[in-house]
Amino acid sequence: MRHKSRHKGPVITMLWNTALEVKTRVAVGAGARTKLSGTLAQIGAGKHVLVLCQHSAAVHWLRDVLSQLPSEDYQVTTLEVPDGDTCKSTDWLIRIWDHLQERGFNRQDSIVALGGGSVSDLAGFAAATYMRGLNLVVVPTSLLAQVDASIGGKNAINLPQGKNLAGTFYFPKAVLADQELLATVPKAQLMSGVAEILKYALIEETVAKHSDYERGPKPIFEILESVINDGFDVEDPQVAGLITSCIKMKLFVVARDPRDTNLRRVLNLGHTLGHALESVGEFKLSHGEAVGVGIVHAAKLAVAQKKLPKSELERIKDILFKAELPMEIPAKTSKEKLIACMELDKKREGDKIKLILPDGKLGTVDYDYSLPISDLGKLV
Ligand SMILES: NC(=O)c1ccc[n+]([C@@H]2O[C@H](COP(=O)([O-])OP(=O)(O)OC[C@H]3O[C@@H](n4cnc5c(N)ncnc54)[C@H](O)[C@@H]3O)[C@@H](O)[C@H]2O)c1
Repeated sequence: MRHKSRHKGPVITMLWNTALEVKTRVAVGAGARTKLSGTLAQIGAGKHVLVLCQHSAAVHWLRDVLSQLPSEDYQVTTLEVPDGDTCKSTDWLIRIWDHLQERGFNRQDSIVALGGGSVSDLAGFAAATYMRGLNLVVVPTSLLAQVDASIGGKNAINLPQGKNLAGTFYFPKAVLADQELLATVPKAQLMSGVAEILKYALIEETVAKHSDYERGPKPIFEILESVINDGFDVEDPQVAGLITSCIKMKLFVVARDPRDTNLRRVLNLGHTLGHALESVGEFKLSHGEAVGVGIVHAAKLAVAQKKLPKSELERIKDILFKAELPMEIPAKTSKEKLIACMELDKKREGDKIKLILPDGKLGTVDYDYSLPISDLGKLV
């Protein structure tokens, strides 16, 4: 990965990442969305552009983004999907394929995803499958999508049997992560992204040890504690720094292990239980809320296994408490259903499941821990 910073006008850090022979340009910083037209030109995009946008993000940002796409250069169409995970369905996928077919899209043409992680997941799956691959550019509008979902080339839709059960690896040609877009994100939704930042804080040393990621002078965990104590202002330069660090971490992890066979597993910290909570709770918990609960329960298991001092678990819980994120499994949730759901998890290997557990101290994880399926009750 190469990177450089420009300090002319808005600060935009340009990162290039190559994984599975696809080069992804990542622009991070205030004003990154203004690079959309130039980015499409750089990737040699065809005339047709579908802007797949999510309702709430569209209300605030669609007009602005469309103004970046001159009509003399592009024939732009839009398709608005509902907020949340409901758009990650076969129904919406078919509607997108129909839209592309009716408007004569071909393989040089592009889908621009404008919204949170559910839209980048849906857009990625549609772009990967229509004519076996259109250009994909992601403009993530939620904190969670900026630090995690838009990066790394995984996409998925949900099936009635569970979350993310159908998907592909398909890398976007570009990601424009513009923190100005976060100004309109409701507080609770912003905090959902904090749960994913917490995940990065808890894996940082392990990632630095096993990839080319270089830590800054201060651990991400400490920066996160500080910005949470200060009320998590998206205009705080420290928050911008956190977003860039998380993106870099994910890019380096994915470059090392694009197909999720080894190091990339670290990104699943909190997700085994998290995904089950989302599915069993019919998505009443947001992805970040569910991941936060999953992280606490993974850390509790680590404490029980004497892998982590209890005081470190308390620091994790303190961040979630201040972010007003849940830490416990909702009272009425059936533990049997959660366990049954986790038994179907993609990380299951025979009668064991690979879990990621904090190991020794905050920042370090054991990403090769195998829990017997019969012991899944220990996680709930
Ligand atoms: N592919 C991956 O690697 C990956 C990684 C993590 C999460 N995910 C997926 O991402 C999804 C969660 O992403 P999410 O938390 O962004 O949820 P989301 O996409 O459902 O968006 C959450 C809410 O925020 C609103 N919103 C987004 N941007 C806004 C803006 N700028 N202003 C106002 N409102 C805005 C949305 O409309 C929506 O209501 C889940 O489906 C999860 O499975 C994928």
